[in-house]
Amino acid sequence: MPILTIRANAKLNLTLDVLGRRADGYHDLCMVMTSVALADVITLEIGTGSGVQVSTNLSFLPTGEKNLAASALLRFQEATGLDLGGARISLEKSIPVCAGMGGGSSDAAAVLRAVNQLAGAGLDPMSLAKIGQAVGSDVPYCVLGGTVLAEGRGEVLTPLSPLPPCVVVVCKPNFSISTPELFRKIDKARLRHHPDTEGMVAALEAGDLSGVARRVYNVFEDVLHPRQQSEVAEIKYLMVSHGALGASMSGTGPTVFGLFENMTAAQAAVQELRAGYRYTFLTQTV
Ligand code: C5P
Repeated sequence: MPILTIRANAKLNLTLDVLGRRADGYHDLCMVMTSVALADVITLEIGTGSGVQVSTNLSFLPTGEKNLAASALLRFQEATGLDLGGARISLEKSIPVCAGMGGGSSDAAAVLRAVNQLAGAGLDPMSLAKIGQAVGSDVPYCVLGGTVLAEGRGEVLTPLSPLPPCVVVVCKPNFSISTPELFRKIDKARLRHHPDTEGMVAALEAGDLSGVARRVYNVFEDVLHPRQQSEVAEIKYLMVSHGALGASMSGTGPTVFGLFENMTAAQAAVQELRAGYRYTFLTQTV
């Protein structure tokens, strides 16, 4: 039976701006995203009989169509008309779940890339990204990966110069966030600050890590509950006091990341953060 194992990298939002609510209920966004080495490992096998079976190392994740990886496979079949003769997807999760790091979206994108290869469909990345859009707003970006400006619902993608090599510390606070609720809060808020997206793109082009780190910014931080804001602020403070050049929340959170030049400093930050936050990782640019 054809089988393939691939990595699904986590993403970070270097910037995240919400421009406004659209007629279809979604929001127009403007985000600079980048991939990091932290990844789930996906194994896809096709021709396994009937239906799509999903297994994961995390028992609380859905294994039916609600799992974005299964949904991606079904959308691929619909879009191409190919009969895969059943499929088995195994997800070895390392990316924190419901964390703003695009774990589920990246798994879905990895399944699209894997099934395209296994079934010999020969779709280009843009066609795969289009199929992924129906699975979730972050899936088109995850199909492409790298450092990208994402606009519209998240599907209008412009590749950018890569994030200069650096060490990245990610830390998931001990609270969870509902994405739709956060978007509702943004609708009611009057945002006083927006990220300097143009400056971020220019800093990436110049390979200026300090310039990038100075500009990391996420408007969703402004509408968190004050208790959540202070937890995020505490993590950012700890990262910066250990030498992070900049720190911000990723996506709709709650994961906070810090960009470091120095591995020893990053390791010290991880050690201290781990005492209070189980999901703390050291990773790097890819
Ligand atoms: O597309 P996805 O299923 O990931 O979106 C989850 C939720 O996030 C949507 O139901 C919507 O509330 C919100 N969303 C949005 N505008 C976007 C992306 C997501 O309002 N561009």
